[in-house]
Amino acid sequence: MRIRPSLLARTLLGSALLAAVAAPASAQDKIKVGFMLPYTGTFAALGTAIENGFRQYIDEQGGKLAGKTVEFVKVDDESDPAKAVDNVNKLIKRDNVDVLIGTVHSGVAMGMAKVAKETGTLMIDPNAGADAVTGPMCALNIFRSSFSNWQPGYAMGKVAADRKIRTAVTLTWKYAAGDESVNGFKEAFTKAGGKIVKDLTLPFPNVEFQALLTEIAALKPDAVYTFFAGGGAVKFVKDWAAAGLGSSIRLIGAGFLTDGTLEAQGAAAEGLLTTLHYGDSLNTPRDNAFRLDYAKTYKLQPDVYAMQGYDAAQMLADGVNAVKGDMKQRDALVKAIESAKIDSPRGAFTLSRAHNPVQDIYLRKVSGKVNRNVGIAVKGLADPARGCRL
Ligand code: PHB
Repeated sequence: MRIRPSLLARTLLGSALLAAVAAPASAQDKIKVGFMLPYTGTFAALGTAIENGFRQYIDEQGGKLAGKTVEFVKVDDESDPAKAVDNVNKLIKRDNVDVLIGTVHSGVAMGMAKVAKETGTLMIDPNAGADAVTGPMCALNIFRSSFSNWQPGYAMGKVAADRKIRTAVTLTWKYAAGDESVNGFKEAFTKAGGKIVKDLTLPFPNVEFQALLTEIAALKPDAVYTFFAGGGAVKFVKDWAAAGLGSSIRLIGAGFLTDGTLEAQGAAAEGLLTTLHYGDSLNTPRDNAFRLDYAKTYKLQPDVYAMQGYDAAQMLADGVNAVKGDMKQRDALVKAIESAKIDSPRGAFTLSRAHNPVQDIYLRKVSGKVNRNVGIAVKGLADPARGCRL
């Protein structure tokens, strides 16, 4: 049977389209970025800020890296570790992404990193601090633009001891990020002679704090060190203020306690001291430009998460530019990111052997809905990367 030309043409076009869909993005004129982030739940705003920051940098490059159009696909990981492997496989197998950008929650990030390592998929972690990702699970294809959970915790332990805090209770969600943040705090605090009175936890993402606040009132420590973030941090700071404990007990924490949360926390957050690799008043030309553009584009103030997303895109660009867009030149791409000096809004930083930022950790104080930078808690702090063999 003779096939009519128009049908033949359509059939050929159909097969070409199919081939284009099935081919890895790197064989085309595109770079496919897969966001695996929380878009629902207590960390929803954090996921959005990371995506916004990432897109801001790509937009600054005209939507292209090394001449290739950047395309995005996304999956809501719901901050649910049980769904992590299925979710990351959607991006790798179904969507054929060139790079994974994710995620916020440490438990989910460890599931992602395991699959990224097994499949060799390039991954940049734009938040989750899981020590293991740049520790025992470290890999040549896995990078982080954020921090390890140990870093801000360790810095606050030092600040607390320097400020003559002698006794502390720790309070956090019971999961990797909370445990590791508290461990970092304890390491520096106890080394300087501080005493931990009690470790308190509640399951992630619970926000029923009343019984814990009652217990803290009875324990009467000098300070309470906390790791909370997102919606949970908003609720905790408000409950703390309402309980009236702040006049006799100092509330301190990793900076997530007051980052991206101050509008909602209002007066309840005033005066809180935290440590983080960012702040709202660095007042450098680089940061001012980033913040102004972000505010104009998204009608929102940027926060640490937006900055980490922006830097994840800068790290990707360093790699992609070095290989002129040829994502198959993996060794050269990895080497370029490894040796990059990233011109971050937080201040320029380099990566450790385990691919984690070596960075200044700032001391910040909340003042009128701003995390005011009041000094550097630890300069050039590198995560110890325990267990990483590369
Ligand atoms: C984490 O789970 O590693 C995590 C989550 C939220 C933050 C920081 C760290 O703000």
